[in-house]
Parts: sequence; structure tokens; C-alpha cells
Amino acid sequence: MIAPCVQHELLLARRMSRLGTETAFEVLIRARALEGKGKSIIHLEIGEPDFDTPANVVEAAVDALHKGWTHYGPSAGLPELRQAIAAYVSRTRGVEVSPDEVVVVPGGKPIIFFTMLALIEQGDEVICPNPGFPIYESMINYVGGKAVPIPLREERDFAMDVDEMASLITDRTKLIILNSPQNPTGGVLQRGDIEQVAKAIGDRNILVLSDEIYSRLQFAGQPFSIMSVPGMQDRTVLLDGFSKTYAMTGWRIGYGVMRADLAAHITRLMTNSNSCTASFTQMAGIEALRGDQSAVDRMCAAFQQRSEAFVTGLNGIRGFSCRMPKGAFYVFPNITGTGRKSKALADALLEEAGVAALSGTAFGQFGEGYLRFSVANSIEKLHQALERIDRWTKQNL
Ligand SMILES: Cc1ncc(COP(=O)(O)O)c(C=O)c1O
Repeated sequence: MIAPCVQHELLLARRMSRLGTETAFEVLIRARALEGKGKSIIHLEIGEPDFDTPANVVEAAVDALHKGWTHYGPSAGLPELRQAIAAYVSRTRGVEVSPDEVVVVPGGKPIIFFTMLALIEQGDEVICPNPGFPIYESMINYVGGKAVPIPLREERDFAMDVDEMASLITDRTKLIILNSPQNPTGGVLQRGDIEQVAKAIGDRNILVLSDEIYSRLQFAGQPFSIMSVPGMQDRTVLLDGFSKTYAMTGWRIGYGVMRADLAAHITRLMTNSNSCTASFTQMAGIEALRGDQSAVDRMCAAFQQRSEAFVTGLNGIRGFSCRMPKGAFYVFPNITGTGRKSKALADALLEEAGVAALSGTAFGQFGEGYLRFSVANSIEKLHQALERIDRWTKQNL
């Protein structure tokens, strides 16, 4: 006899209710659905370079595929890539990094995931920028930690107030997250501020997760890492990668640099989850780091030019006021002058104006009053988007 087919209730682990998401992907799905119904949408929601991966990097991957780099590799990454990353980080951050302090992972995100899993106990506090990349808070909550937001304010060009940050440090603080250049505001932490963060930490046993995924997309001045502050190298988990710098979002490759004992634990998390990062992707990563860098400079210059054009355009639209970002490819205008809440305005622009952007609240409560536009789109599309927003505001405000 065939057993009756019973549809059991899904008994999800309670922790799943604490896991957040990244709104950009949800807005992308909504925008695609509207396009499916014949509506024209300009996509300024998703945070990825619109450029192709540089040809030399693509060729290195094709070559690696032909040569058989299609098998498992070491969980921490191929020795030659770890060597190349150690040399790159040593050079750019002015510290001595060895390959056993490097873990290669599929994208920058796993470094956030694994760092939280490895370090955060129930009730541990993590200070994180707000508005900020939503995955930080999602992961902190998921592992049972407590996210302590440090507000980033427009009047400070979205750089954190270090005194305010210092006042949030308690006996439960385990980790402080820095992100410069910053998503979603385009803000940059200056060297003096970063040195003050190190001073505020003092000799407490607190680690810093320094998310420097946009470090090659800073428009003026040299990026400065907290890893470069004397005494901070062992207390920093540096997150960097290839997604934004080399337009390699779909390749899934990034890395963390940290003290060797922590790197061994993060490597165990890799063994338990992904086994390793795709081998041919890593071969492409070696070429990305060692090969011609002119594409990176060209993309950075284009993002700056587009940001300037878009900010100028927004400042001419009723209810919008916008500062020029200092890096990355996001523009974060103040929209309080429109009289609309951020989410309501983002929804209306998507559905009525055909421009997909994100509500500032997708990045935390201190994002209310703002929208995030990604300028990783052509200058023509950006101008079209400005025209659409302008027309919509004239008709609706
Ligand atoms: C601040 C920040 N960190 C990390 C990441 C993750 O990058 P990846 O695509 O390499 O996982 C992103 C991607 O949007 C980001 O904006």
C-alpha cells in the first residue's frame, strides 16, 4: 500500500526569523516583473559595475579552464593567489602580510558571514555603520549578537563621529565594523578619523572588520586602512575582493586578511561550506592583481564623472538635495524636501516613473530621508532617469 502523502508544516529553525536580506535583489525582481508587463525601467538599484570584466582577466580564466583548473583546491585558496594577495595588501596597506594570513572565499560577503560565525557569541555587541550594508546587521542578528548602530550623518559627509562611536563601546563590544568608501552613502573615512578609532579601542580586546571592497574606487586622496595603524594589524579583519574593483561580481571571489590563527578557523568554515573557491576563478584573480591595472583607473574615473553628473541633475529637482560622494558608485540624496517617506518615494519612482532606486531605510533606520541610486549605468541612462524623476516630481509634488 502507498503511504498517504502528508504535507507537513515547515519547522524552520528559529534563527531564520533573524536573518535579513539585501533589498537590492528584491527591487530588481520587482523591476523585472514590471518590465515583463511592458514597462520601461532604468535600473539604478543594484550595486555592480556595468563594465565588462577586463579582457586579460577573462582570458586568464579561459586559459585556466583549458589547462584543467576545474578541480577542488585548498580551502584557504591557491597558494599562488594567497601569495599575490599578501604582496598586494602588504604594498597597499604598508604592512607585512604573509600568505597564511589570507583566506580566499567566493566574494566579499562570506568574510562577513564567517567572521560573525567565528567570533560572535549570544549577546556580543557589534558596532556597525547605519545607514550601512544590510548584510552586517543581518548576520549579527542571525548569530545572536546585538547590532549597535553608529549613525552616519549627512552634515559630516557621512563619515562617522568617532567620539560618538567611542561612547557606544561597552564591555560586551566584540567587533567594530568600518566601511570606507561606504555603501550606501559614498562617504570616506579620513586617516585622522581611523587613527582616532584605533585610539578609542585602545588596549581592549576588540577586533575591527574593515570592509575595504571599494578601496580602489576612491575619488580623491589615498585610501587609508586601520590595518596600517601601528598595533592594529592583528586586530583587523580586512575584507577586500575583486567584485567591484575588476567588475567581477558574478565570478564570486573575494578575500579576508587576518591574524593566522583566525585565518585557520575561517578556513575551517570554508571547508564546511564551499570546500574552496572555484579554481579557474582564482587563476583569473592572480591575473587581475598582477596584470594591467588601467581598466580599474578608467572605471573609477567613469564612476566619478557619472556621480558628478547625477548629483548635479538631482540638485536641480524639486525636493532633492545631494552631496557629492567621495567614492564607490552610489549617490545618496536627501529627499525630505519631497515630503515623502523614503520607501514610499522609492516605490512611486519605480512604479510610476520607471526608475529603480533603493529606499535609504533598506540600509537601516538612519537611512530614512534618503534614497540610494547606483550610478553604475551609462551617462545616457542616468540623464534619462533624471528626466523621468524631474517629470514625476513636477506632476506629483
Ligand atoms: C560594502 C560591501 N561589502 C561587501 C560587499 C559584497 O561583495 P561581493 O559581491 O564580493 O560579495 C558589497 C556588495 O555590494 C558591499 O557593498
